[in-house]
Amino acid sequence: MLKLTGKVAWVTGAGSGIGQAAAIALAKEGAVVVLTGRRKGPLDETAAAIRKAGGKAIVRAGDLMKAAAVSRIAQAIDKQFGRCDILVNNAGLNILDRTWRQLTPAGVEQVIDGNLSSAFYCSSAVLPMMRRRKDGVLIHTSSMAGRSPSTLSGAAYSAAKHGVVAMSHTINMEECVNGIRSCVVCPGEVATPILDKRPIPITKEERARMAQSEDVGDLIRYVACLPPHIVINEVMINPTWNRGYVAALRRATQEKQAKAKARK
Ligand SMILES: NC(=O)c1ccc[n+]([C@@H]2O[C@H](COP(=O)([O-])OP(=O)(O)OC[C@H]3O[C@@H](n4cnc5c(N)ncnc54)[C@H](OP(=O)(O)O)[C@@H]3O)[C@@H](O)[C@H]2O)c1
Repeated sequence: MLKLTGKVAWVTGAGSGIGQAAAIALAKEGAVVVLTGRRKGPLDETAAAIRKAGGKAIVRAGDLMKAAAVSRIAQAIDKQFGRCDILVNNAGLNILDRTWRQLTPAGVEQVIDGNLSSAFYCSSAVLPMMRRRKDGVLIHTSSMAGRSPSTLSGAAYSAAKHGVVAMSHTINMEECVNGIRSCVVCPGEVATPILDKRPIPITKEERARMAQSEDVGDLIRYVACLPPHIVINEVMINPTWNRGYVAALRRATQEKQAKAKARK
């Protein structure tokens, strides 16, 4: 038997990137997956791929920045299945104009609501279903920017993703007595459509060296399949060719060479 047979998993941001890969991986493991994002088209495509492979998927589109939409979807899940065993709290976004010189109140609101408020709304919406069964796993996609603030990702995104890390840890602090487990995943660069919003465009070659959606999707599947007595509280996943490290190594070499030249 597959490890997630009989389980219901709600995956947000399931129309592309990490969310799509996670939904496919969870469905392959036997879970019924509920797919959410704002655009219905990409969700339908994910659902079609899952069904073609023999899995079960349901599309529930909605804007997770709106608490009422989140509660409507959670209620529909409860009504249809009477349970939500796994939440992949993954939907997120970034904006192009992300430096302090460029930030506007509208941009800040979009990034904080799209990464942090939405994650809070989804967690709050599934916890009652999980408490009822004394079981449940929440897996949140934060970022390496949620561990170390990054100007590349921007101030608002770094702040929001730090918030997601803190949010996840507090769920374990309060809900461990209810058999509920929360894991925050902090990826480095993953080749997904979110990178199209980078102020400095990323080449095809650079994307090929990054982590791929399927790498993170498989990690999420692994966390979801852990036995109920164990929780991975936090996990980082990065490409081996870490562009941050490579840039630092290059800077160090250049500095050494410049100093050697100056001594001559
Ligand atoms: N790729 C990376 O390098 C990287 C690194 C660290 C963390 N992350 C995080 O990983 C998560 C997944 O991103 P990704 O890289 O897979 O990029 P992606 O392909 O752009 O996926 C983001 C998904 O979230 C959905 N979404 C965004 N805002 C939403 C909202 N308000 N309501 C409902 N759905 C919404 C989008 O669909 P719609 O547009 O249709 O709503 C999209 O499918 C995000 O939280 C991101 O911050 C990514």
